[in-house]
Amino acid sequence: MADVSSHGGAESRKRVIFLGPPGAGKGTQAERLAADLGVPRISTGDILRDAIAQGTPLGQQAAPLVEEGGLVPDHLLIGIIQERLLAPDCAQGYILDGFPRTLGQAESFASMVQGGPAAFCVIDVEVPREELLKRLSGRRWCPSCQATYHVDNKPPRSNSSCDLCGGRLLQREDDREESVTRRLTVYDERTAPLRQYYRTRSCFHHVNGHRPVETVFQELRRVVQERP
Ligand code: AP5
Repeated sequence: MADVSSHGGAESRKRVIFLGPPGAGKGTQAERLAADLGVPRISTGDILRDAIAQGTPLGQQAAPLVEEGGLVPDHLLIGIIQERLLAPDCAQGYILDGFPRTLGQAESFASMVQGGPAAFCVIDVEVPREELLKRLSGRRWCPSCQATYHVDNKPPRSNSSCDLCGGRLLQREDDREESVTRRLTVYDERTAPLRQYYRTRSCFHHVNGHRPVETVFQELRRVVQERP
């Protein structure tokens, strides 16, 4: 497989993988950390939702799986990531939010990147299950610019439109109760084992995500900056 990413010097401090269950705050923190480090945040969930909204062949294939809370096949995700990491904005580093999500994805990805898993800082965000359910049921999302809100924790200025672009806010299809239950089961079975995979292969940091956004962010920032 092609080497999509070189490794060395300060860039190694700017390659981050976020792990954690649905609603843990990966997207919220990844966005802030990406802005702080000056690197792109690559969210496979956003890429798939965008493809679904545009009705591309990828979107048509992914739509039923995403909406029911299942996973999109590994080979499609690996292709998406391989292409995205070749873009010039990834040269100085990047933050992966939602990828890898299975052992198969992690192993393929390890063979794509020079330095393998050791080239990454892996952040595992943990939040109690009842809090995850509150966060997901109260999340609202802007399909136009992908901004995320929460009815209690981060309300938009107006109830129904995005502060950033004015788009109409919606509940994500996969934030409905039946899909959330499935997503949590899929996380436990398919994604949680990645903690063990990365713990011994990467700079691995476990963070308590059940604290204010700013507190969590300051800890993550310190971890990434202090990485040897
Ligand atoms: P994806 O979009 O990646 O969903 P996810 O991993 O389930 O994560 P979420 O976006 O639900 O939550 P988050 O942890 O980012 O939390 P957020 O910051 O938004 O993937 C969606 C689907 O795409 C998957 O189910 C799958 O079908 C498919 N897919 C994607 N990648 C794939 C892959 N690699 N392989 C196969 N399929 C793939 O926060 C949640 C809410 O909580 C927000 O309202 C936020 O405001 C609030 N909040 C955040 N932090 C805090 C805090 N500290 N305190 C209080 N509230 C907070």
